[in-house]
Amino acid sequence: MKPYSILPILLVSVACQADSANTSTTAIGFDAIEPSANLNWTTCFDDFTCSRLEVPLDYSNKSVGNTSIAFIKLAGKNATADSPSIVFIPGGPGGSGIQLLLESRDLVGTILGEQYNFVSFDPRGINNSGPILDCFSGNAEARLAFNQLHSTGITNVSSTSLEEQYYSSSIYGDWCNNAVKNETPYGYYVTTPAVARDLLTFVEAEAEATSQALSDAKLWSYGVSYGTVIGTTFASMFPERVGRMILDGVLDAEQYYDNNWRDNVNQMDATIQSFASFCHAAGPTNCSFWGPTADNITTRIDSIIDRLQTHPVALSGLQNPGLPNVVTYSDLKALFVNTIYNPLQSFPLTAEILHEVEHGNVSALVGAFDGLAITDDARLIVQCTDSSQRNKLRTIEDFRSYVQYTTSQSHYIGDIYPIFLETILCRSFRTNLPESMVIQGQ
Ligand SMILES: *[C@@H]1O[C@H](CO)[C@@H](O)[C@H](O)[C@H]1NC(C)=O
Ligand SMILES: *[C@@H]1O[C@H](CO)[C@@H](O)[C@H](O)[C@H]1NC(C)=O
Ligand SMILES: *[C@@H]1O[C@H](CO)[C@@H](O)[C@H](O)[C@H]1NC(C)=O
Ligand SMILES: *[C@@H]1O[C@H](CO)[C@@H](O)[C@H](O)[C@H]1NC(C)=O
Ligand SMILES: *[C@@H]1O[C@H](CO)[C@@H](O)[C@H](O)[C@H]1NC(C)=O
Ligand SMILES: *[C@@H]1O[C@H](CO)[C@@H](O)[C@H](O)[C@H]1NC(C)=O
Ligand SMILES: *[C@@H]1O[C@H](CO)[C@@H](O)[C@H](O)[C@H]1NC(C)=O
Ligand SMILES: *[C@@H]1O[C@H](CO)[C@@H](O)[C@H](O)[C@H]1NC(C)=O
Ligand SMILES: *[C@@H]1O[C@H](CO)[C@@H](O)[C@H](O)[C@H]1NC(C)=O
Ligand SMILES: *[C@@H]1O[C@H](CO)[C@@H](O)[C@H](O)[C@H]1NC(C)=O
Repeated sequence: MKPYSILPILLVSVACQADSANTSTTAIGFDAIEPSANLNWTTCFDDFTCSRLEVPLDYSNKSVGNTSIAFIKLAGKNATADSPSIVFIPGGPGGSGIQLLLESRDLVGTILGEQYNFVSFDPRGINNSGPILDCFSGNAEARLAFNQLHSTGITNVSSTSLEEQYYSSSIYGDWCNNAVKNETPYGYYVTTPAVARDLLTFVEAEAEATSQALSDAKLWSYGVSYGTVIGTTFASMFPERVGRMILDGVLDAEQYYDNNWRDNVNQMDATIQSFASFCHAAGPTNCSFWGPTADNITTRIDSIIDRLQTHPVALSGLQNPGLPNVVTYSDLKALFVNTIYNPLQSFPLTAEILHEVEHGNVSALVGAFDGLAITDDARLIVQCTDSSQRNKLRTIEDFRSYVQYTTSQSHYIGDIYPIFLETILCRSFRTNLPESMVIQGQ
């Protein structure tokens, strides 16, 4: 998503993206690799190896056909081919594990030890793994029209906006259902239980490659954020196949499967308090929004919020050539969401932006809210198919009470969180999934 690249709840790391090498022995991308049922590792991205693992779309009915899952591996400095692999499970949903490992190449060995191999993957439906569903079937105009109708600002931006956002939300599922019906019949076969089953296929394929008994094959993993839902799902489906598992930055799995991410907002404001105390501690040369106390900083942030709420700022586009624009309270709230999800990287820039805004220069906020619009459907398809049986957010009353709750819990992002997370878009998904792909139990 968006200018600041904020996948909700996705671990983002600071390291630079790997350059891909241009030698004849190196596959430039996954397209150049033939999917196979065995892990056939091909050199890729300089010092990595890549493989596309062929898996059944539906483990309970193999005649439905196959798809392929993209895996990537980095050997620890002291690892051998037989060393255990630790699988990094990305966040999101919608996060690319391939990208995560490419960006974290310099960190993983230091964090976990150089005696391991480090593996990650794009879960089903994401980036280099099939099946990929584009809900708008490439119709950019329809996607834009939907975003403009639905994503109008924070949910209480006007006295009728909650209703507009609720009723327009059905359009999204209509387009996704249509794309499944007419183009990508198995586009909904991307649920987390299927991803967990794919991970079992992976560890068994690795055992096979090193001539170990398949029944002994176990998963060693490090899951972040939504990746912890994949981890707990794997553990509940295949408890005897858990080797070692780190669950970091835990997302409440029960709330996730209920499409009810309530507890996510409860401590968000503490991050803005941290911003204020770190900014104060950094001093005036190192924090652009410095103040003599942390309270001074939060009070000034709050005045910026109050001012923009009643005084949106018009930019004609004449002084700094560009299109006319109006910077609103919703743009400021988008800044806070981005800041809260990426504190380490964003605090210095946020301080600079707030400093400029305090002095009347809002240019950095232009388009910040529009930057939250949905350009890639993977995240929503996974979260909506996963919650299709248990979705607790269906009626306008459900939506109203959810918005009231988030707003009551967070001053800084409570009123933007519902439209940021877009859980309401799940209400018109018609999934018709095989039993094996749906989480069981209450
Ligand atoms: C990569 O290699 C191909 C084939 O040898 C060559 O045509 C191309 O210019 C190279 N690209 C770069 C960026 O070096
Ligand atoms: C492994 O992959 C390479 C490159 O994609 C291919 O040439 C080779 O035939 C594959 N080997 C097996 C055993 O599938
Ligand atoms: C699916 O993959 C399996 C394992 O590679 C293979 O045996 C089977 O023929 C494939 N099925 C189809 C329909 O391609
Ligand atoms: C398995 O999938 C095939 C192909 O989609 C379908 O024709 C068949 O009815 C399915 N079998 C079962 C038992 O669901
Ligand atoms: C998809 O994967 C490619 C590498 O194969 C990477 O360059 C690109 O950034 C990824 N895109 C996303 C959205 O993750
Ligand atoms: C590699 O293993 C050797 C022997 O156990 C150890 O002395 C060395 O510190 C290890 N190197 C790294 C980079 O972990
Ligand atoms: C939205 O509702 C919250 C909580 O009632 C309130 O603090 C905020 O000012 C409202 N926003 C607007 C733009 O009215
Ligand atoms: C600002 O940060 C730099 C680098 O972290 C540090 O060396 C310096 O002491 C800081 N300046 C002040 C005034 O704290
Ligand atoms: C914050 O501190 C500055 C500098 O001392 C002062 O001018 C300003 O009035 C303070 N603002 C608030 C809201 O306390
Ligand atoms: C306004 O702020 C932006 C960054 O927030 C900065 O790049 C730009 O130079 C500022 N413009 C003026 C006129 O100070």
